Amino acid sequence: MTNDKLQKVNFLGQYLAASRSENQILEMAMLISHDVLGYDHAIIRLVHGEELLSRQWIGFPREAADRVIRIGEGITGEAAKTGKSILVEDTTTDPRFIKGVENCRSELCVPLVYNERTLGVFNAESDQTAFFTQQDVQLLETLASQIAAALETARLREELLRSEKLSTVGRMASSILHDIRNDIHQLNISSDLLKKDGLKAELTLKVSDMIRKSSDNIYGLIEDIFDFVRTGHSHLALKPQHLCLALDAVAEHIKSTRPANVEVILEAEDDIELSMDMRRVRRVLMNLARNGVEAMPDGGTLRITGKRSGADVVISISDTGVGITRENMLKIWEPLFTYGKANGTGLGMAIVKAIVEDHGWKIDVSSEPGKGTKFTITASAA
Ligand SMILES: Nc1ncnc2c1ncn2[C@@H]1O[C@H](COP(=O)(O)OP(=O)(O)OP(=O)(O)O)[C@@H](O)[C@H]1O
Ligand SMILES: [Mg+2]
Repeated sequence: MTNDKLQKVNFLGQYLAASRSENQILEMAMLISHDVLGYDHAIIRLVHGEELLSRQWIGFPREAADRVIRIGEGITGEAAKTGKSILVEDTTTDPRFIKGVENCRSELCVPLVYNERTLGVFNAESDQTAFFTQQDVQLLETLASQIAAALETARLREELLRSEKLSTVGRMASSILHDIRNDIHQLNISSDLLKKDGLKAELTLKVSDMIRKSSDNIYGLIEDIFDFVRTGHSHLALKPQHLCLALDAVAEHIKSTRPANVEVILEAEDDIELSMDMRRVRRVLMNLARNGVEAMPDGGTLRITGKRSGADVVISISDTGVGITRENMLKIWEPLFTYGKANGTGLGMAIVKAIVEDHGWKIDVSSEPGKGTKFTITASAA
């Protein structure tokens, strides 16, 4: 084997090991092998179930390339079945030969084998009889094992990506189901309200508004998942928005669902604009507010504020509830950490943290057991 050929084969090995996609691998393998072996036409077919489907070719007419070959059928099929290379010096005398290219006189068929599994077949052809030498057989076999290893690595890589994506979808799904509970609760309350006789027109409008908001929210949460599945990212829909709209909505929601002994106070400067994803910021505030209410089983005050502070905007949600022990202070942000609640899932704060950080904002907590807790979000103004 000449040095030049060896160098090319080595180069191909290195290139393939770093290749990301099946297409990249097959294209480069075809180019280099053509250069090294000097054949007239070639085709790479890959195994799909019981069939071999063409994936890459040079010098083959489309109809010939499109032909599906069953495993065991013809020379290619036999190489796939046995996992052994086949060298045919004169195709006119070989009954297994299936004509693809008109002038094909000799053929070298090498299976792409990885870990004793045949992934496909590399089929090189020449217009001359007895074109391929024993050295060519060795050369193509070396190339074939490099191609097979690269194909398998690319497949594994893709599988890994898919499973990573799926597990993120799983995590997103649980966070979304978590927040859908809020809206379903709201829908139940609305439906109870509507059943009351003599409901004033004004209140009917308000309830219908609440129903609309909750169903929009559920729809939006579901869209988040589809968005992620389609694109691999969850996109913030950032727009300059009035902060007081988010604070009002959350205060309204909490007022309509709170126990009678909980007072809700809202102090919001009404001309603050922030670049934010309105729906997601509402999720943050809802989770914080709900935790605040849940921390006050004997009643108390939930205070929601939104104010400017220099160049920043500071949002706070505080309660006069049970507080958080020093030991739990760091754990509250962990997914699935829940303490002191019968039905807590422990996802609320993890969702809060992720959304706040996606916005490039900061969240802090201070708490005194027995006195209450205050969450403070610092955002830079739009
Ligand atoms: N305002 C608060 N006052 C006291 N404890 C709090 C407060 N906010 C959060 N915590 C503590 O942090 C834990 C984690 O909160 P997180 O919202 O993540 O989960 P959860 O409220 O237990 O369950 P979920 O929100 O899924 O219903 C809570 O169980 C609670 O012990
Ligand atoms: Mg919670």
